[in-house]
Amino acid sequence: MRHLLSAGDLSRDEATLILDTAGELAQVGDRSVKKLPTLRGRTVVNLFYEDSTRTRTSFELAAKRLSADVINFSAKGSSVSKGESLKDTALTLQAMGADGVVIRHSASGAPHRLANWVDGSVLNAGDGTHEHPTQALLDAFTMRERLGRLEGLRVAVVGDILHSRVARSNVLLLTTLGAHVTLVAPPTLMPVSVHTWPCEVSYDLDEVLPKSDVVMMLRVQAERMHDSFFPSVREYSRNYGLDGERLSRMPEEAIVMHPGPMVRGMEISAQVADSPRCTVTEQVANGVSLRMAVLYLLLGGS
Ligand code: CP
Repeated sequence: MRHLLSAGDLSRDEATLILDTAGELAQVGDRSVKKLPTLRGRTVVNLFYEDSTRTRTSFELAAKRLSADVINFSAKGSSVSKGESLKDTALTLQAMGADGVVIRHSASGAPHRLANWVDGSVLNAGDGTHEHPTQALLDAFTMRERLGRLEGLRVAVVGDILHSRVARSNVLLLTTLGAHVTLVAPPTLMPVSVHTWPCEVSYDLDEVLPKSDVVMMLRVQAERMHDSFFPSVREYSRNYGLDGERLSRMPEEAIVMHPGPMVRGMEISAQVADSPRCTVTEQVANGVSLRMAVLYLLLGGS
């Protein structure tokens, strides 16, 4: 494996190797000196054309914990604002000797184009509404940590599926790893092609919740909406938001996940977001170990 572009490219063995490696590397975070020399002399470029809090800092920390040199590049404040193309930016980074390029871009497919232009490894950190493979990997890691297995796990992914790269990557990865995924959304926020995805579809959250081991809540991506997809926030929240009352109707061991950023009071209530059954901060912590594993396996490991 040279690049990580899509969760769908991973075989069951490859995905399991990444999760197992992340489990080993998580121990580095418990040490007083949180560093390994594994990627010393390697250069990782974080190329972010879209905003990010978790993914960018997580990749940066992961690369630094493996002793790589890290360059953070964002479209704001760079020559992109002067009209430089993705290709010319990529060739510039290539000329500086980047061994790995982590890219987030608003255009679906941008990481695939980049992979044709650079010699180093390309890691997709989210491309438009297409994919976010490391998010799916850290989600799978978190489920396995909390619930002890992925095989046969019943996972509901709820909310703005239409604009969600997290939903698509999770469906592809979780089904490869033996879990059963049900997508839940209002009809207007379900992709037209969803019947071709390897998962179930429902429009009724209350029907799905009691049968779920995991419920993953998604943010409504207003920044990708050029139309009105539901009558009001209040109505969306009433039909598809997770509050304490709905949480109480889930199986006792079931967990609540969210990739972040959360909009409290819309898709998730503050009571649920702060509940011990909500894994949102664990997902962030696991994201560092998971991204260390991916960088290690692509750039340095065997
Ligand atoms: N989950 C996620 O991708 O968060 P950021 O947009 O903050 O990176």
